[in-house]
Amino acid sequence: MNVMTKTKAEEGASHIYEPIPCEIVSKRDLTPLEKLFRIEMPDGRELGQRPGQFVQVSILGYGEAPISISSSPTKRGYFELGVRNAGTLTGELHKLNVGDKIGIRGPFGTYFDVEKLAGKDLVLIAGGCGLAPMRSLIQYCQDRPSEFGKLTILYGAKTPEDRLYKEDLIEWNESSVFACSYAVDGVPAGGCFNEGQVGLITVLIPPLELDVKNTVAVIVGPPIMYRFVIAELKKKGLAEDQIVVSLERYMKCGVGKCGHCAIEHLYCCLDGPVFWLNQVSSLKGAI
Ligand SMILES: Cc1cc2nc3c(=O)[nH]c(=O)nc-3n(C[C@H](O)[C@H](O)[C@H](O)COP(=O)(O)OP(=O)(O)OC[C@H]3O[C@@H](n4cnc5c(N)ncnc54)[C@H](O)[C@@H]3O)c2cc1C
Ligand code: FES
Repeated sequence: MNVMTKTKAEEGASHIYEPIPCEIVSKRDLTPLEKLFRIEMPDGRELGQRPGQFVQVSILGYGEAPISISSSPTKRGYFELGVRNAGTLTGELHKLNVGDKIGIRGPFGTYFDVEKLAGKDLVLIAGGCGLAPMRSLIQYCQDRPSEFGKLTILYGAKTPEDRLYKEDLIEWNESSVFACSYAVDGVPAGGCFNEGQVGLITVLIPPLELDVKNTVAVIVGPPIMYRFVIAELKKKGLAEDQIVVSLERYMKCGVGKCGHCAIEHLYCCLDGPVFWLNQVSSLKGAI
């Protein structure tokens, strides 16, 4: 009798232990610290991700790191990763060029469940690097707008220069699909910011006019952001089962084996990173 129980990752993904060599087909600067890599699987295969999932990226001799998939599955033939140069692996990745190969395991983790979100008004709230995973959902909504109600994007960054995906921010703002509001915490001397407000991302929430019963808010950002954004959304009348969060934890294996990413009884790599707020709000250290 087979006594092995498959994990959710084992059931859902074909490349969970063995990295697949994939080719960098384009590379461009997002900010001085972050680059966007477009990647193709061998033989024109699709990665098969859902919006909000992540992959484990490896380079021989330099280790492995979890990176969110930053493009929607509606974009066929490639996937994109927006990567900050944060240390050993990501530093080496930044040095690679078009035509070079990297190892990819995954896709891993839970996702923004577009079937459950269908028909809802969505408020998509991203802070800083949180726009990387959020972009996969935004692109999905942009490609399939008829599946959703009113679509609102709120994005906050430290300064205008720190904003990721600046060309996308302009495109989304000009598109009739989205209502966009942007903020920056501050503007360095001599700089300017005409595309939104100066202040924390929470300043963008009180002016929203929401159909509260039919709205779901999705939040991805730095840990400090969640508590304050959630408090503002609750003031607007949203309940915890109307708020989706994507949480980042230190990860190693990505498949529920090492315990590095535990939040009490949950593994962020397997049970998350995407959770409904009511799944995690009572867990110590989750938010
Ligand atoms: C689910 C998930 C999705 C992510 N998505 C992205 C993304 O889209 N783009 C992106 O640029 N980064 C993302 N990250 C963060 C990224 O994984 C880390 O920056 C990366 O692992 C650093 O690896 P390194 O070898 O370059 O750095 P190292 O040399 O290993 O470490 C550099 C510094 O970063 C710290 N660090 C390493 N890993 C993490 C981590 N997981 N969380 C917090 N601190 C860490 C180390 O403690 C050290 O201080 C994500 C992390 C997770 C868990
Ligand atoms: S990263 Fe190993 S259990 Fe989650």
